[in-house]
Amino acid sequence: MRSSVYDCVIIPLRKIHNRAGNITIVEGQKNLSFDIKRIYYLYDIPGGEDRGGHAHKELSQLMVAASGSFNVILDDGINRKVVMLNRPDYGLLVVPGIWRELIEFSTGAVCLVLASEVYLEDDYIREHKIFKNYRFENR
Ligand code: TYD
Repeated sequence: MRSSVYDCVIIPLRKIHNRAGNITIVEGQKNLSFDIKRIYYLYDIPGGEDRGGHAHKELSQLMVAASGSFNVILDDGINRKVVMLNRPDYGLLVVPGIWRELIEFSTGAVCLVLASEVYLEDDYIREHKIFKNYRFENR
């Protein structure tokens, strides 16, 4: 497990600007290093609530602030970095093996997630201590 927070990069997405509004396109393989198998979105997040608080063993994701803004804390067991997402035409690639926390959602924020795999609870690590051990054992 060599992934690091520095592999989690911002990906600019194509934006077609129009007087009547904008459209942004994400295409698996073209924009991403994976095919999109699942899409989900977080919304109606009450003020002060956090999401995430887990890592994935195999899953890659692209997170987009489709509306509003939020911060993503990334942690690879050694390094931490915080990324603010506040534009629908930029996505954050989160590679496997990274602990993430989503915090400070603005009112009305929508976090759109494009995922490389279908939902699999066995792919989650939901305790930070177990995550640290997992990273240590797979270093
Ligand atoms: P979880 O991924 O823990 O949410 P977050 O990281 O945003 O805090 O998922 C919350 C609940 O929803 C959990 O019980 C699992 C379920 N869930 C699915 O059933 N399918 C899915 O695709 C996702 C993302 C979650």
